[in-house]
Amino acid sequence: MAKKGNSSFTCSECGFESAKWQGKCPQCEAWNSFEEIAPSRVSLSGKKVPVTINELSEVSGAAQKRYKTGISEFDNVLGGGIVPGSLILLGGEPGIGKSTLLLQASSHLSQYGKLFYNNGEESAQQIKLRSDRLGIKEKNIYLMGETGLDAIEEGFRQSQPIGAVIDSIQTVYRPDIQGLPGSLSQIKEGANLFLNVAKRNGPFIFLVGHVTKEGNIAGPKTLEHIVDVVLYLEGEKHHSFRILRSYKNRFGSTDEMGVFQMTGKGIEEVKNPSEYFIQDYDPSHSGTMLSAIHEGSRPLLVEVQALVSSTHFNFPKRMVDGTDINKVHKLIAILEKVLGLVLVQNDVYVNITGGIRVKEPGVELAILMAIYSSFKKIPGNRSMVFIGEVGLGGEIRGVSGIHQRVKEAIKLGIETIVVPTKSFGELPPAMKKDNVLPVSSVRDVVEYLSR
Ligand code: TYD
Ligand code: MG
Repeated sequence: MAKKGNSSFTCSECGFESAKWQGKCPQCEAWNSFEEIAPSRVSLSGKKVPVTINELSEVSGAAQKRYKTGISEFDNVLGGGIVPGSLILLGGEPGIGKSTLLLQASSHLSQYGKLFYNNGEESAQQIKLRSDRLGIKEKNIYLMGETGLDAIEEGFRQSQPIGAVIDSIQTVYRPDIQGLPGSLSQIKEGANLFLNVAKRNGPFIFLVGHVTKEGNIAGPKTLEHIVDVVLYLEGEKHHSFRILRSYKNRFGSTDEMGVFQMTGKGIEEVKNPSEYFIQDYDPSHSGTMLSAIHEGSRPLLVEVQALVSSTHFNFPKRMVDGTDINKVHKLIAILEKVLGLVLVQNDVYVNITGGIRVKEPGVELAILMAIYSSFKKIPGNRSMVFIGEVGLGGEIRGVSGIHQRVKEAIKLGIETIVVPTKSFGELPPAMKKDNVLPVSSVRDVVEYLSR
């Protein structure tokens, strides 16, 4: 299948690169997923070309000006606003709210100058309807509905905007490049063009990238090394919460996250997310526990639910929503080994409510306690927050940001706050109150439940 020349092949499922076409990807084992990527047009003629080389110390280091989106949660995730000339990928599932968020941001950004909004998916009338619904009246937003890259480039040349939105990168294409719109070669071609426009003329450019539920993010994912900033808008469609996270940021930290809510009037910031995430928490139910997690510079209270029921299958089921299933497997193993629970006859369901996904280890103790509480049918009977990573021997390990986590739990009036002994030592004396309990092993913790 391989053609002559320097083409390479990339797996459209996982991005694995290969010099030759392969039927089955050696990395992700997908079949028929290799796409040919045309050789880059590098000149090997030896011709002299002008180049600019700057000595590092001579490059001016003036603080970068940043454009504000008018949505402070969004600006925070960006590292304090948008840097001119930056290329930003905004990924997320279809219908999650990417276009809505960017249209709302455009309305505020248009005060700095012309904004160019190219939407290859919706008609100008549809966009107008949406912007009316969002109450956008600004004049400086220019709409275009092109899919051809040449036409879009011409649009940039004519409108000379300070910023642009390309919605989405999967709709743009160049007819003389192999592959349909949305294929890897077309996506890369588009991204390289926009990179060039952004770096040469200085507008910031948002590239919208759809990511499917099955996690097929190969298209947008292959752009991650080209762009300056990678943001993902996450959430579940049947929940109104949306979380904006940064996975890469050349101009700021990647720890920040923004919390939003989808309303009838577009996307709104959630100023006190903990209150939202634990609004249905009821400590009189067994199998439900709180944790205080630490995301970026912000603490957040989340509710962990577990249901342990007898199994009707040959193999007990483990179903997990909102965190990594392997975390739950590990915690079940610890419950069996250290506390002697027998869970081979039980299905275990774990859910972190509100549609949030938690990866950080500080949530582990709350998951373990929720499973224990459901299995033993012992409710907390008072509001309890569990903070800590659980080691394989059942020891409770310290976590970062303990001060902020405990402060958030106190702010929300939680009655009992369980923390790792090591982290307890880092708390300021004023926080070492009677209701803050240090624990060093899971054996100590379960005692508190029975008290
Ligand atoms: P959209 O921004 O089109 O998603 P994406 O660009 O990520 O595909 O969002 C579409 C969904 O959002 C759609 O189901 C309707 C809903 N929505 C609201 O709930 N409120 C609003 O004000 C708007 C404009 C959309
Ligand atoms: Mg859209």
